Amino acid sequence: MTATRAGAAPAARRGGPPPWLPALKALLFVAALLPLARLVLAGTLDWFGGLGANPIELVTRSTGTWTLVLLVASLAVTPLRRATGLNGLVRLRRMLGLFAFFYAVLHFTTYLWFDQWFDVQAIVKDVIKRPFITMGVVAFVLMMPLAATSTDAMVRRLGRRWSTLHRLVYAVAVAAILHYWWHKAGKNDFSEVGWYAAAVALLLGWRVFDRLRAR
Ligand code: HEM
Repeated sequence: MTATRAGAAPAARRGGPPPWLPALKALLFVAALLPLARLVLAGTLDWFGGLGANPIELVTRSTGTWTLVLLVASLAVTPLRRATGLNGLVRLRRMLGLFAFFYAVLHFTTYLWFDQWFDVQAIVKDVIKRPFITMGVVAFVLMMPLAATSTDAMVRRLGRRWSTLHRLVYAVAVAAILHYWWHKAGKNDFSEVGWYAAAVALLLGWRVFDRLRAR
């Protein structure tokens, strides 16, 4: 075989998705479900040492951490796409973003249910009194319109406004970092949150740089 017909050129070179993308997407889908599977198996069958002495704290922390990890991963897709020229990677962004929202719902529900027992008065008081909870709620509320407009139909319907709206994801990331930072400030422990803050700062910085360069 010497030459390739134009029509048979590799999909990635034609700008289409590379052939391995569906496999990567399936792998990421399964990987994103593993933290939930771990919690369910630990809680029901006592696997992985169970949920420990403070199960509510463990579940809140695990779901909060995975919300942030998946949020940062979804933000990293565009720079990665530009760096590699693999436009098909964009197909992973929506899945990662929706998984981030899924873990945020679990995180928030754990707080509402097992931390506050749906006591509306206590929740309102807590949101007003503790800035770290206020920031968590801000991040969560800002995520809602993004999740609600993630379908292909909404992308088509909103047109250019969709991209403008989805810039909100950076505000979500900043609010999430502030939430985590404030939470850790009480313990004077910034070792982990510092890495997440640096990643978000880097991704935001890249975005600003990219926009300035485009102008
Ligand atoms: C996008 C939204 C959110 C993200 C990314 C997020 C992320 C996090 C992270 C990373 C932690 C710290 C985990 C650790 O200490 O290892 C945390 C803790 C916590 N979050 Fe969130 N969170 C969000 C929204 C919320 C909301 C809406 C609430 C409740 C109103 C909330 C309540 C809490 C609580 C109570 C803790 C402390 C758990 C503990 O140490 O006992 N979070 N969150």
